[in-house]
Amino acid sequence: MRIQVDEMVGILRRQIKEYDAALAVEEVGTIVEIGDGIARVYGLSNAMAGEMIEFPNGSYGLALNLEEDNVGCAIMGKYDDLKEGDQVKRTGKVLQVPAGSALIGRVVDPVGRPLDGKGPIVTEFSRALESPAPGIAMRQPVKVPLQTGIKSIDAMIPVGRGQRELIIGDRKTGKTAIAIDAIINQKNAPADQRVICVYVAIGQKESTVAGVVKRLQETGALDYTIVVSAGASDPAPLQYIAPYTGCAMAEYFMYQEGRDTLCVYDDLTKQAAAYREMSLLLRRPPGREAYPGDVFYLHSRLLERSAKLAEKHVIVPVSKEGKVTEKDGVNGKTYLAEHGQGEAKKDLEKMENKSGYKVAKIFDTGGSLTALPVIETQEGEVSAYIPTNVISITDGQIYLEPDLFNAGVRPAVNVGISVSRVGGNAQIKAMKKVAGTLRLDLAAFRELEAFAQLGTELDPVTQRQVDRGYRLVELLKQPQYQPADVVDQVFAIYAATKGHLDDVPVNRVNAFEKGLVTDINDAHKEIVLAIRNTKELSDDTVAKLEQAIKDFKARFMKQGETTVTKK
Ligand SMILES: Nc1ncnc2c1ncn2[C@@H]1O[C@H](COP(=O)(O)OP(=O)(O)O)[C@@H](O)[C@H]1O
Ligand SMILES: [Mg+2]
Repeated sequence: MRIQVDEMVGILRRQIKEYDAALAVEEVGTIVEIGDGIARVYGLSNAMAGEMIEFPNGSYGLALNLEEDNVGCAIMGKYDDLKEGDQVKRTGKVLQVPAGSALIGRVVDPVGRPLDGKGPIVTEFSRALESPAPGIAMRQPVKVPLQTGIKSIDAMIPVGRGQRELIIGDRKTGKTAIAIDAIINQKNAPADQRVICVYVAIGQKESTVAGVVKRLQETGALDYTIVVSAGASDPAPLQYIAPYTGCAMAEYFMYQEGRDTLCVYDDLTKQAAAYREMSLLLRRPPGREAYPGDVFYLHSRLLERSAKLAEKHVIVPVSKEGKVTEKDGVNGKTYLAEHGQGEAKKDLEKMENKSGYKVAKIFDTGGSLTALPVIETQEGEVSAYIPTNVISITDGQIYLEPDLFNAGVRPAVNVGISVSRVGGNAQIKAMKKVAGTLRLDLAAFRELEAFAQLGTELDPVTQRQVDRGYRLVELLKQPQYQPADVVDQVFAIYAATKGHLDDVPVNRVNAFEKGLVTDINDAHKEIVLAIRNTKELSDDTVAKLEQAIKDFKARFMKQGETTVTKK
């Protein structure tokens, strides 16, 4: 039999080609060292940073250290039955988590598995755990308020949608309480505009998280909230990825549905500690306070993903309803951001038959992600490594002080050193107007308070400032789980800063506030509506408000006399 040379060459060529292909899909390695949740694997020379590696017991690992002859993986699950020599596989995928509305109302672990016993999460959507932050051109300045419902914050340290505001303080100073109240306060918005919230619990006791979930459920806040939990007893890699998981789940709504979202990372100190643990086990060189050199990047790449995305508008027929997409535009143009919206209106004016068209927002644009990271300090030490890092990444901080907390000033916000660098632009005009002098009044009071306590004789002007101060402090106290509507806050702060409270006994300030707010909401609806609709405090409204406060005060003081004499 004669063999044709051409044919042979052809076969050989084909085999060589297929041999290559077979190699590419079957990349396996062997464990050369294992312990403490870290595996070193030989033979995965093409592994990507952050790739999922499959272990024979079904656990997944995260490829973190790509070294010359081995790959260091953090195992996210069981690892006691793994041993040296076991074969592992590359998956070719970076870590992904489920996304979409199926997650709302659920409690999940950092890889998206349910922890609440409410059955499997069925969703066709997923998102990579890590994704780049949106670029500057995709963003828009922060200008819509995110009302926390906490008087001292909304008045003096306002947070805007898309902002990153740090909550910092020692343990048990009410950090979690502020974050939870901010979530609960989103309840009153209509369901389709509500801020979707994600609460990420890192390294907390399971019982604490269960308490938070119960609270969210009781107040109805779980209807628009996702809880991601990596408990104190979970492996370090899970605590490390938890904030990214929460962020990815929120991002889905920001990017795909154009929704406003709020992400609470409670707290990043524990995430940093988990990362330090992993890094030391991976034998990365330790730096300051034994944290690895890239610990800044840990938090910066997370917080950079918060954003207010620019809106895009198109001109559509008036009859158009439901989701507007780019294709619906009638003139083939899309208008970016606020200046674009103005341009769109001008173009609309120029169109013939302009009454048949309108400017509409493209449904998946203009979303936002507001971040409230939490940092726990030791003995108020804000200049430690992790606190200074996170302070420098965020747009301001709410500083909570144990002394205030123990003195009963709750929320224990130290107004003097708390700031919000961008939120002021977002504050509604009415609030801006009434709260303008509040911070100064309080600061002046803090300086004088010490003298007042010594029993020093004060001149009448100073005495008035001190009296005002005591009443402001009283007014800004607020019980937990009772966020206040911003319009109600305006009434109370107006009354206080205009001196209407100066002759109300300090222990009756709270009763005065409650009574006043109820009275205006019941008997002076027009004032409430004027502020709610215009968000401004016009001279006309001020006059009406002034009168309403005077009338109420007259009744209130009289009532006081009778109750006092009864005592
Ligand atoms: N505004 C408040 N009024 C009354 N109690 C509060 C207030 N804020 C927090 N607390 C209570 O203080 C304790 C510590 O609050 P928490 O938010 O858990 O602190 P942290 O998160 O800083 O450790 C909790 O028992 C909480 O109920
Ligand atoms: Mg807490």
